[in-house]
Amino acid sequence: MYIENTIIIEGLDGAGTTTQARLIGEKFQKEGREVFLTHEPTDNPIGKVVRQVLQKKISTTPEALALLFSSDRDDHLYNEEYGILRQVKENRIVISDRYFYSSIAYQGVQCDMGFVENINSRFPHPRYLIFIDTLPSVCMDRIERRGSEKEIFEKQDFLSRVRTGYLKQLENLPEGVKLLIVNGEKSIEEIEEEIWLWLKENGF
Ligand code: TYD
Repeated sequence: MYIENTIIIEGLDGAGTTTQARLIGEKFQKEGREVFLTHEPTDNPIGKVVRQVLQKKISTTPEALALLFSSDRDDHLYNEEYGILRQVKENRIVISDRYFYSSIAYQGVQCDMGFVENINSRFPHPRYLIFIDTLPSVCMDRIERRGSEKEIFEKQDFLSRVRTGYLKQLENLPEGVKLLIVNGEKSIEEIEEEIWLWLKENGF
């Protein structure tokens, strides 16, 4: 099973996934299409706990954090009131800034991969996956320039391992997932245009 009408945007911290999700959402809205623009970790209660861990306000084990991410995701997908599946059923185009690919890439660095895969095995793949591929050094420059307090994963050596985890996953996707890898060093406008053209060529 795949989640229809759903576009996931993935990338390292600082790759620009949030910006692109917003821009693409706006483009669909200009066409009069209904969009559900969302992200993980979510703004729901479990997602808020996750953010506190990321911001070093509370500490926990890597395994507990992995479970929190997957618990947040379960709610994000299956919540009957506002979950992604409900949004798809109501004919909205879903655009999510991150999904379980983030867990495999990030938690896979710190936890046993079998464990991480296991706690994410119940989540279906989306039809559309976009990976904004940016070198860790470039991401770190952007994060430094942002000037805010760094989150736990915002270190270059860690991000290098995360990138390897992403690339490995992308080589092993099931056939039904349409994948676009974009060079994250291009300008915001160029990336937006490339994504938009690809979406148009692929059924939107
Ligand atoms: P991010 O999109 O950077 O949020 P913000 O811009 O608000 O800080 O995501 C937060 C971090 O969480 C980022 O470092 C990636 C990480 N993450 C995981 O480690 N596992 C996951 O399953 C998800 C969804 C995110």
